[in-house]
Amino acid sequence: MTDSQTRDVAPAEGRLGVLLVGLGAVATTYIAGILNVRRGTGTPVGSLAELNTIRLGKRTDQRVPTIREFVPLAALDDLLWCAWDPIPDDAYESAKVAGVLDSPHLEPIADELAAIKPMPAVFDQAYVKRLEGTNVKSGSTKRHLAEQLREDIRRFKNENACDRLVMVWCASTEVFLKPGPAHASLEAFERAMDENDPTIAPSMLYAYAALQEGVPFANGAPNLTVDTDAIRELARQQGLPIAGKDFKTGQTMMKTVVSPMLKARMLGLAGWYSTNILGNRDGEVLDDPEAFKTKEESKLGVLEHILQPAMYPELYGNIYHKVRINYYPPRRDNKEGWDNIDIFGWLGYPMQIKIDFLCRDSILAAPLVHDLALFMDLAQRAGLTGIQEWLSFYFKSPMAAPGLPPEHDLFIQHTKLKNTLRWLMGEEQITHLGVEYYDYQ
Ligand SMILES: NC(=O)c1ccc[n+]([C@@H]2O[C@H](COP(=O)([O-])OP(=O)(O)OC[C@H]3O[C@@H](n4cnc5c(N)ncnc54)[C@H](O)[C@@H]3O)[C@@H](O)[C@H]2O)c1
Repeated sequence: MTDSQTRDVAPAEGRLGVLLVGLGAVATTYIAGILNVRRGTGTPVGSLAELNTIRLGKRTDQRVPTIREFVPLAALDDLLWCAWDPIPDDAYESAKVAGVLDSPHLEPIADELAAIKPMPAVFDQAYVKRLEGTNVKSGSTKRHLAEQLREDIRRFKNENACDRLVMVWCASTEVFLKPGPAHASLEAFERAMDENDPTIAPSMLYAYAALQEGVPFANGAPNLTVDTDAIRELARQQGLPIAGKDFKTGQTMMKTVVSPMLKARMLGLAGWYSTNILGNRDGEVLDDPEAFKTKEESKLGVLEHILQPAMYPELYGNIYHKVRINYYPPRRDNKEGWDNIDIFGWLGYPMQIKIDFLCRDSILAAPLVHDLALFMDLAQRAGLTGIQEWLSFYFKSPMAAPGLPPEHDLFIQHTKLKNTLRWLMGEEQITHLGVEYYDYQ
């Protein structure tokens, strides 16, 4: 049965330009992945937009289209990309340096990748200490730098006849910044750009430029970026979606699956020690304590939000939670994440869980970039303005309305995403109540 309140969703006609900030391991793995899928030489594993189905109506109705059949999403053939990076390598060279994909997935598309050359970035080493960039814009004020980004966006759109654009931050993690006076309102933010205020990071200039140009912005790193009053105000004013922050891919994804299980069974938690070894450029950047602090904040909040220690002090009131990331070059992009989890059961008897996740960072992140690009474009066509909480599924530190606790549980996030799609298309919500299948009096 359908609901009469179907929202107006504009069709996904024409070309969708995906503007990527950062052309490193994640961005090139994503682009190369889509190019392979288009050629029939790869499967978009990990993408809900490409592979997942969605149940509509009752379990007995047998209405289970794919998400792509159900909601209007940009076609793979309609996607094209551009990027900014302070390192001048084109997408082919950058993919080779990242070392994520093997030759059979890179050589046949080498020309297409090589054609994606990064535009000069707005980059300042004060915000990413371990990187040195040569492909960098100059400008007397941060406002001038943002204006140059706006020109880049307009030029790319015109030269490539794009109908719509989305921007996804796939660049390095910046040093830790807290919301301050410069982020309190759009007016204060614009003044701070003119005054070269140090609390305006490069990522914020990209977000500002995107929104001013009518482009939705999703943030794949833990930087503050769009998570401020000023940028929320701009998004509202422009009627645009924003989402963030920090792709939820490896260890935190496991954490948001295992901790809801503990809570669902009312099992206690004494300690959770998480450590990683990682050898890619991201690992090198995160080796700087100030960048790690931004990541750490993003990773630590998860347990507290899920387990609610204030509500269950005897189970979760005294958790020792530690997260470490160690830069270890030999592993390159193939991260190893260990979790030691000290739990307790009936009468407080202790038990342990060990997880050793030998993952591939960018292989897990690439489908998230793709889904976010498609869903942010959908959100814009559906008139969904401001924070896209329904996309929390993709983020370690999901943005939520001010004062509202974020939702971290992966499966609640998944349900929220699908129910939002049902709501958009005027279909009934799935509550899992299921009384209709039984003859209760
Ligand atoms: N791979 C994952 O599983 C994962 C998960 C969560 C978050 N992330 C985040 O995604 C981001 C990308 O990860 P990656 O592995 O591709 O890293 P990477 O180091 O390979 O690529 C990042 C790129 O961003 C560029 N860059 C830095 N500052 C920039 C700026 N101001 N403007 C434009 N480009 C800039 C760098 O030069 C680099 O090429 C990182 O912030 C990382 O923390 C990744």
